[in-house]
Amino acid sequence: MSFKCESCDYESLKWTGKCPNCGEWDTLKEKPSDHAKRGATSQAAPAEISSFSSKSSRKKSKRFSSNIGEVDRVIGGGIVPGQVILLSGEPGIGKSTLLLQLSLKFGKNVLYVSGEESINQLQSRLERIDNSKDLKISVTENTDVDRVIASLEEEKPSLVIVDSIQSLSTTDSSGYAGGLSQVRECGMRLTRAAKHLRIPIFLVGQVTKDGSVAGPKVLEHIVDTVLYFEGDEFGMYRILRSIKNRFGATDEVGIFEMTSKGLKEIEDPSVMLDSGEKEGSVGVAKAAVYKGSRMLVVEIQALTSPASFGSPRRMPTGFNKSRLEMLCAVLTRRGGVNLSGDDVFVNIMGGMNLKDPGIDLAVCMAIVSAKKDKKLSDKVFIGEVGLSGEVRGINFQSKIESELRRRKLVFLSSSKVKGKTLSSSLKTEF
Ligand code: TYD
Ligand code: MG
Repeated sequence: MSFKCESCDYESLKWTGKCPNCGEWDTLKEKPSDHAKRGATSQAAPAEISSFSSKSSRKKSKRFSSNIGEVDRVIGGGIVPGQVILLSGEPGIGKSTLLLQLSLKFGKNVLYVSGEESINQLQSRLERIDNSKDLKISVTENTDVDRVIASLEEEKPSLVIVDSIQSLSTTDSSGYAGGLSQVRECGMRLTRAAKHLRIPIFLVGQVTKDGSVAGPKVLEHIVDTVLYFEGDEFGMYRILRSIKNRFGATDEVGIFEMTSKGLKEIEDPSVMLDSGEKEGSVGVAKAAVYKGSRMLVVEIQALTSPASFGSPRRMPTGFNKSRLEMLCAVLTRRGGVNLSGDDVFVNIMGGMNLKDPGIDLAVCMAIVSAKKDKKLSDKVFIGEVGLSGEVRGINFQSKIESELRRRKLVFLSSSKVKGKTLSSSLKTEF
């Protein structure tokens, strides 16, 4: 006899009131003896890999479009039969809206499992984004995963949306709906059904603002593709990123705008990330980064204000805090711009989150422009800034430079700066 914790799956040979692993009370439950067997699906003996190849390559060739260009871009060109895609994101970001729009555009019989919203709520959302009546979506509020799988077997839909995986449960597994063991078990059963029936499934995974409910995390190694939908809830823009993809690269981003009639694709992101100011303004600098096959020009805003007490604050949004601390120190020590008495705020416009050190130079320019209260020219700044105040080349530098030239944008990069130092770059501008 053994026991298993319902909340963290810790296993123990003896029962205790409090789980020694996660500290929850009364969560250790006796493990059913056939539990282990349930996971095994195929008893096939191992065979040489080459004997599988012709069959699997034939299967691989079929990809079909989701009919939303930005979604196709992020998942690597289209949906593969049997692919399981987890779409994670904070509440209110637009996951349900995106998948409902995808169902509408997809056209062919889609099964929408709405465990989180009632059919009425779904309908009112539908009216907002589309008011045609001829829809090929069947909807169910059923949250029993085994019943959902049974209807997949019966109806053979061409696409399934599960909104959300936390709302499903199975009576075979203990624990509450949305708990780790239920989420994992439901995810595994749906994945098995998807592969077996070759029906693609989108799973919505809710994450909370502080990331405390790690529900969708346990699914990340089970599913084929993990997408994050991000952007700030109050901003207009939403960014779809792929974190893992068994069928494609993970470096593309899809960009959407939330409008009163649902999400709109932004095919030319330079429109979104650029305020269109030709003159340039105080505390704003432009940077360029490569995301997948697209170059994005991003605006970086900075503000400095005298620190009121204690050590000055460094507050980035969409940028790494320790990187900002480092850049402020380099500006103070090597760039001749003393920031030791100033709070520094930096914001990447459009809700983008950038880790790329290639935007360092633009961040420094925005800060100095804010500090000196002087406008910058309309240049794009590209370069990584090092501890000794040097400006270095960046990833994809030549690709970015030629794309900037093609778009007729003026830029400043390390190759154009005398001595490749931060202070000489600052001199060109101020
Ligand atoms: P929703 O898709 O419900 O988010 P999630 O499923 O990720 O929790 O989106 C919710 C937000 O989007 C909500 O605040 C309302 C807004 N919204 C619009 O602005 N326009 C629309 O057409 C729709 C349907 C929603
Ligand atoms: Mg939702």
